[in-house]
Amino acid sequence: MSDLHLASVPEHVAIIMDGNGRWANQRGLPRTMGHRKGVEAVREVVRAAGDCGVRFLTLFAFSSENWRRPETEVSDLMGLLRAFIRRDLAELHRENVRIRVIGDRQNLRSDILPLLLEAEETTRNNTALTLVIAFNYGARDEIARAAAKLAREVAAGTLRPEDIDAEMLNGRMDTTDIPDPDLIIRTSGEERLSNFLLWQAAYSELLFVPEYWPDFTREQFYKALERYAARERRFGGLSTKTLAAGAP
Ligand code: IPE
Ligand code: IPE
Ligand code: MG
Repeated sequence: MSDLHLASVPEHVAIIMDGNGRWANQRGLPRTMGHRKGVEAVREVVRAAGDCGVRFLTLFAFSSENWRRPETEVSDLMGLLRAFIRRDLAELHRENVRIRVIGDRQNLRSDILPLLLEAEETTRNNTALTLVIAFNYGARDEIARAAAKLAREVAAGTLRPEDIDAEMLNGRMDTTDIPDPDLIIRTSGEERLSNFLLWQAAYSELLFVPEYWPDFTREQFYKALERYAARERRFGGLSTKTLAAGAP
């Protein structure tokens, strides 16, 4: 580990890994080379997160809207995920990393779903970092699926509509048993959430950094954690400074 000393390490960091295409473009390379290089950044940041005591790391790997890209790019991204799990699963397991996958599992190709299930099953009892892979993930889709679960329970007579509250809906999200992200980082300079964790981001600190994802290193990850540590979270209450000054 580096000489990183932080007042507070976020329990859960989520990352919108953006800018692979532009990274490649800048070098006159095909977009696919950017995605390839992006996988190396994934490896580095997973290790960095584990090393500094982050408990949950969520990576946005493929959105429910990314199907709109040309078929060749979509297959390329699928191929990279497959290769990542095949190549890295054993090592992640050795490092005691638990893998969780969020997103819609219906209609996933038959060469992807079994691999994702195997990764979750193999690592389910691991106790170090939880690596959450957001794959075929869209926040609105997740919320709609959670609402449909509640509706089915009402229809089955096991739930009364008047008993539904935020906590119940939360319990039907893909992220049930995963704490909300403390920090959401987006690389590449874009400043939007692009349908990522909309429900869970209610009180997340947001950090937008200019680097393209393939250029995002361990050092940049630690810098982001430092910036997070300097933030003050209030959750609708008052700041400790205001309270100390004896606000009326
Ligand atoms: C992020 O990089 C990777 C995925 C969305 C899967 P992009 O492919 O979006 O790269 P840019 O934004 O076009 O540069
Ligand atoms: C968000 O990036 C999705 C992932 C990082 C997987 P996009 O590149 O798809 O987002 P937009 O289209 O620029 O909003
Ligand atoms: Mg992009």
